[in-house]
Amino acid sequence: MQNTLKKPILALAIAGSAILAACNQSAPKSNTMADTTSTALAVKLPEASAFERTIDGKKTELFVLKNKKGAEAALTNYGAHLISLLVPDKDGKLTDVVLGFDDLEGFQRAASAYYGAIIGRYGNRLAKGTFTLDGKEYKLFTNNGPNTLHGGKKGFDAMVWDAKQIDSATVEFTYLSKDMEEGFPGNLNVKVIYTLTDDNALKISYEATTDKATPVNLTNHAYFNLNGQGSGIALNHLVQIDADNYTPVDSTLIPTGKIEPVKGTPFDFTTATAIGERIEQDNIQLKDGKGYDHNYVLNKHDISTPIATVVGDKSGIKMEVFTEEPGMQFYTGNFMNGSNSLKGGTPDAHRTAFAMETQHFPDSPNEPSFPTTVLKPGAVYKTQTIYKFSVK
Ligand code: BGC
Repeated sequence: MQNTLKKPILALAIAGSAILAACNQSAPKSNTMADTTSTALAVKLPEASAFERTIDGKKTELFVLKNKKGAEAALTNYGAHLISLLVPDKDGKLTDVVLGFDDLEGFQRAASAYYGAIIGRYGNRLAKGTFTLDGKEYKLFTNNGPNTLHGGKKGFDAMVWDAKQIDSATVEFTYLSKDMEEGFPGNLNVKVIYTLTDDNALKISYEATTDKATPVNLTNHAYFNLNGQGSGIALNHLVQIDADNYTPVDSTLIPTGKIEPVKGTPFDFTTATAIGERIEQDNIQLKDGKGYDHNYVLNKHDISTPIATVVGDKSGIKMEVFTEEPGMQFYTGNFMNGSNSLKGGTPDAHRTAFAMETQHFPDSPNEPSFPTTVLKPGAVYKTQTIYKFSVK
């Protein structure tokens, strides 16, 4: 009896492998299918186990936030990275609007791109890796040509933070950056709280205190593609930035110290314009930045009105950015080159995303005319940024 049963099963198995082999032979034709599958994969959150590691003797994990509307976010306490953010598109289909990786190692391999990380102690560049505070000169590690970028050799993006899930929509990350870590003075206690609100907004609240005066400039480095990660170039997104001025840079991307009007330049996004419309124009700032990689001087930054609005041309997803920070680095993925394999196996191809890093201006400690970034003992660094999603 058992034998007779086994035979049909064997026959089915052989037929099954024949069908599979036939499918494999026609692999070239199924390229489009493979693409669809990878996009579909990206709308799932990564596996928790892919983020459960021990790094520097501390446990890392995946944290999931959900709101009442069905939006979801995934984060990890490794570098307080935002990994995924699922919001509905114009047809109600959940779309993952941030770039990230399926496992923790992906973030480590692509460390110099800072996908979704919290950046500190000082976001963006400090000229020649140095600054002077209260008459004392501090020397930092130069990890970006002659300059220090995003905190130095091992910034907050590569640290394991302590984590506490407050409720289903909120996670709190804390980190103690010790006195002279990466050359910065003072023990800095940092707290970052991510909340996914019921109006489909991701709110990021930052807090820090210090026991010695120190420059602090925290930001989140999410790369957005509102058509969904893996959907191709982001150059057709429509961008509006409420900034009449920006801070032009030298050839190493350090602000010259001038604040210049955007009017009449390719930097004018005061009315909605596609990212790619003027990105290849003959302009020295665009040439040195290899595209947009510039700090905008925001007209208002009181969290009540959006300082930037972006619409995904295919998805209809609209993102509004609100912040209390005076500046925003608009970066158009100019250094992305396809060498990293993102969630679902899609490459991080050139300009397939953009970042809107709300911040104080780059190199402020060396530029007395810029708003100060110095935090003194007894004072509290407190700031918020909101990325709000809806459909157009
Ligand atoms: C910088 C870019 C840099 C990118 C990734 C941005 O904030 O301004 O120049 O390539 O971060 O590191």
